[in-house]
Amino acid sequence: MSILIDGKSTAQKCNSILKDSINELVQKGNRHPKLTVIQVGNVPASSLYIRNKMRACERVGILFEHITFEADVTQSELLKTIEQLNHNEIVDGILIQLPLPKHINEDEIISAIAPEKDADGFNPITLGHVMLNTSDIFPGTPKGIVRLLEEYQIPIEGANIVVVGRSNIVGKPVASMLTNKSATVTVCHSKTKNLAEITKRADILIVAIGRANFITKDFVNEKTTIIDVGINKVNDKFCGDVDFENVKDIVHAITPVPGGVGPMTISSLLDNVFKLYTKKIEQ
Ligand SMILES: NC(=O)c1ccc[n+]([C@@H]2O[C@H](COP(=O)([O-])OP(=O)(O)OC[C@H]3O[C@@H](n4cnc5c(N)ncnc54)[C@H](OP(=O)(O)O)[C@@H]3O)[C@@H](O)[C@H]2O)c1
Repeated sequence: MSILIDGKSTAQKCNSILKDSINELVQKGNRHPKLTVIQVGNVPASSLYIRNKMRACERVGILFEHITFEADVTQSELLKTIEQLNHNEIVDGILIQLPLPKHINEDEIISAIAPEKDADGFNPITLGHVMLNTSDIFPGTPKGIVRLLEEYQIPIEGANIVVVGRSNIVGKPVASMLTNKSATVTVCHSKTKNLAEITKRADILIVAIGRANFITKDFVNEKTTIIDVGINKVNDKFCGDVDFENVKDIVHAITPVPGGVGPMTISSLLDNVFKLYTKKIEQ
């Protein structure tokens, strides 16, 4: 077995440090940090993700507010709520649980969140700063991936990194962040030709495509570190985008699904809320 990159225990370690930092500030007389999550409709997967975020917040001492709307809420109602939250002094982070119903313009909603309250790090201004390497707020999954690589001392500088998937929330920002850390990054997608030839040359292979067990042993080499972002459900069981069982013994290191990137995404969200909070209480 190669090295198993354990996101669950790494996240627990990060969360425990965060809990102590929050505790210290509260002991000094500061209020608790607060995250407000907006949910539209009641998609079961979204409700599950929100519950996980709520529990994680509670464990570290972040207050959690859950605002719900019916699936037929209007764009202007949502914008009005975001505007109110933007001006609410005791809300440090705002998060819109995605996806939103089709009649809602998602880009406009995400852009409406003030950058100084952008807990998810999806606002175009935040993403611009991520690209320019001038941000301390990063989208949760890319930030979690970088933290995992650092925790396991996988060299990034000079590494040949292949990212499969070019979403705005994972592929593109993680490629920017790793380029800023002096890796040589190749981004692949559904139109990429000869994908396996490219992925086989990777020192680090990050896969975020949403296709169960897509990356087989034909896509990797024995020196590859694999970060599997995918979350897929097959026969009622969760699995990643990588064929874990057949790949795990022939690569250098690999994240499991579940227990890899997922817990790090939530931990990074908590860290974003804490950063937004400390900036406010220091003002
Ligand atoms: N663990 C976590 O915390 C976490 C967080 C976020 C997402 N996820 C999971 O990660 C997966 C990806 O989600 P996402 O939102 O980043 O991506 P997404 O928006 O679903 O887009 C998928 C990306 O994969 C590419 N793709 C699809 N099929 C491909 C193929 N056969 N070969 C190469 N590229 C292919 C697409 O290419 P085109 O651009 O050409 O269409 C697109 O860029 C999903 O399973 C999601 O549930 C997990």
